Amino acid sequence: MNLRTKLLFIFVFLSLLTILALSVLYVQGKKDMVLKLGSHTEGISEAIRMSVEKLTLEGDDSEVRLRSYIKKLRGKGIKEVSIISNADEVIASSDPKKLGTKVSPLSDSVITEASLDKNFGSEKKWGVIIPVIIGEEHRGYIRINTDLEDFNKLMRKKYYQRLLVTALIFGIGIVLSFLLFWRYTRPIQEVAKAAQRITEGNLEELPPTRQRDEVGLLVENFNKMVKQLRERRELEERLKEAERFSAIGQLASGIAHEVRNPLNFISLSIDHIKDKLSPDEEFHPLVSNMKGEISRISRMIEDLLDYGRPLKLNLRETDLIFLLEEVLALTRERINAQGIMVKNSFPLKSPCMVDRDKMETCLMNIIVNAIQSMPLGGELTIRVSHSDLFIEVEFEDTGEGIRPEDLEKVFEPYFTTKELGIGLGLAITKRIIEEHKGEISIKSHPNQGTKVKVKLRRQ
Ligand SMILES: Nc1ncnc2c1ncn2[C@@H]1O[C@H](COP(=O)(O)OP(=O)(O)OP(=O)(O)O)[C@@H](O)[C@H]1O
Ligand SMILES: [Mg+2]
Repeated sequence: MNLRTKLLFIFVFLSLLTILALSVLYVQGKKDMVLKLGSHTEGISEAIRMSVEKLTLEGDDSEVRLRSYIKKLRGKGIKEVSIISNADEVIASSDPKKLGTKVSPLSDSVITEASLDKNFGSEKKWGVIIPVIIGEEHRGYIRINTDLEDFNKLMRKKYYQRLLVTALIFGIGIVLSFLLFWRYTRPIQEVAKAAQRITEGNLEELPPTRQRDEVGLLVENFNKMVKQLRERRELEERLKEAERFSAIGQLASGIAHEVRNPLNFISLSIDHIKDKLSPDEEFHPLVSNMKGEISRISRMIEDLLDYGRPLKLNLRETDLIFLLEEVLALTRERINAQGIMVKNSFPLKSPCMVDRDKMETCLMNIIVNAIQSMPLGGELTIRVSHSDLFIEVEFEDTGEGIRPEDLEKVFEPYFTTKELGIGLGLAITKRIIEEHKGEISIKSHPNQGTKVKVKLRRQ
């Protein structure tokens, strides 16, 4: 239901409610009035009957009866019944003070009309004056004074009731309008605040609403807009990153090409020098180190070139434990030099179908990272477990760990926190493992250590 319909609905509802309530009050008031009037008329007729009796049958107890009866009639608004003689003297009255008093001569018109016609004093008292004629003889008058305060009270009560009901209906109207206003302005305020946040660069969606009206539509479209803006920003960021990577990649492969040939030449020359030197020569270890470092540079260049090329796997049945032991043997010297304790928990064999060289590169990258994270020693635990379908390898170090804000970037190419790092180790590793239809994940806490988990299919 839209806002306009809702407002219309509220106004129609309130008008109907007002008409209904006032009609009920009117009908109720009329009924009460008729009842009151009925009982009043009954009282007056009874008083007249008694007075006529008194005028025709003389005797004391009639007056007493009259008085006691008036007492009862008081509740019905009848205050006084007097019998007036032809000489305008009160000869009997429910008010003893009036006995024997003279009344001002009654005009003929008043007597003959014998109606509610005379106002006595400031109070709302009305009198009925009825001539009593028995046969041809005029015996006197009956005067009945009534007090209309009861009717006034009734009218006043009805007036207050009407006032209360009207106030109540207006109260309901105000509450309903306030609820409607609140329901509509609150989401609009939220949208305004969110729009302000967008100008500050914070692309946050609003909580979805179940409202199916203009406001619901506004929130829905606002969220769509925010989503589109976010997607666009992400696309722009990715585009920028891709441009950056491709520029770096092109530069890197250009340099790699240029460096590879002289590097090969240096490597061959070192081999030549090494052949010429006797093993106990002073420079022999130095030359060996040079050869080692040259191979490292060569491997880095291979990595750089590899990353730009599509991967081709050469799957063969390989024992993963054998590969792990080979990598550990290659890094043994550094492990010992840094005082790192390696704890292995392996089965005897863990055969699987992998690309041997590429998987070795992966294991090497992970283990080298762990070693690099513990320059002052620590513990490296490697656990291997396998089922019929999968092999899981876990590498846990007690090194420096990774800051939470860096954790999601470690698999991105060229992300590194190391002075001499390239940032390709984990990117290549992830690519190779995923190409094997495996998974790699990393968990880390700064200053506590890092856990890398690799899950591979055996087939
Ligand atoms: N075991 C680890 N402990 C602490 N930090 C790690 C670990 N493994 C990875 N990292 C963090 O992840 C980053 C990316 O690792 P990655 O192997 O991809 O690149 P790199 O080691 O910096 O450079 P390289 O290309 O020489 O491997 C590292 O710079 C380091 O900050
Ligand atoms: Mg690395």
